[in-house]
Amino acid sequence: MIPDYLDPEYIPEHIACVMDGNGRWAQKRGLKRTDGHTAGEKALFDVVEGAIEIGVNWFTVFAFSTENWKRPAKEVQFLLDFNEQIIIQRQEELHERNVRICFLGRRDKKVPQRILRRMQEAEELTKNNTGLTFTVAFNYGGRAEIVDAVQKMIDSGIKRVDEKTIERNLYNPEMPDPDLVIRTSGESRVSNFLLWELAYSELIFSDTLWPDFSREDLFRAIKEFQDRDRRFGGLGGT
Ligand code: IPE
Ligand code: IPE
Ligand code: MG
Repeated sequence: MIPDYLDPEYIPEHIACVMDGNGRWAQKRGLKRTDGHTAGEKALFDVVEGAIEIGVNWFTVFAFSTENWKRPAKEVQFLLDFNEQIIIQRQEELHERNVRICFLGRRDKKVPQRILRRMQEAEELTKNNTGLTFTVAFNYGGRAEIVDAVQKMIDSGIKRVDEKTIERNLYNPEMPDPDLVIRTSGESRVSNFLLWELAYSELIFSDTLWPDFSREDLFRAIKEFQDRDRRFGGLGGT
């Protein structure tokens, strides 16, 4: 059900989320940082349900950045195992809900083979689904994505580039730019997320720590989005 304060005709096509604040959520409760990641899973799937409920077509989350390898080895290991478990445990249920699962990021040797395999399996299983496209940015960095696109262009022997050429060489050329990007935990920065794609996204920074975020918060953010005037460099007004 779409809440009545939202305009059902103006639901963003693509919403992306920087799920931040898990560690602080746990520390505030005297728990281990990794308990915060565990608690974040509930928030994630509540928000995914919310996105399905109101008919969002593309929903993307930042799960692990190219910079997150700098964290202590134990936390990195936890995050790798945790993400693997989520794929295993949730793919069937997402498949049944007609969700298409995609991964976005560098699929290099840093990511263990078995996780790369799981990612491929989940993508393969759900590739013909026609509902929400749920993208998990994993080992993702916006700069790395641009570097990789430039490398692909060089390798193909291309002599001239324009914006379309770059777009065609991003990790998922099909993915539309996000209309709305939400970052939780009170940090007002982009942290290397979707640098190319968010040129004209509406940004919303929420003080809520990710494990406390819910579909209701998503709907409120969409309300704020609907109240804004997107001008794209023009004069706006509709
Ligand atoms: C976000 O929460 C999850 C990841 C970056 C993997 P954090 O782990 O960054 O939590 P804080 O920001 O330290 O509270
Ligand atoms: C951004 O959060 C990355 C993810 C949510 C996966 P970080 O916690 O890594 O970002 P910084 O370090 O606060 O900029
Ligand atoms: Mg953080």
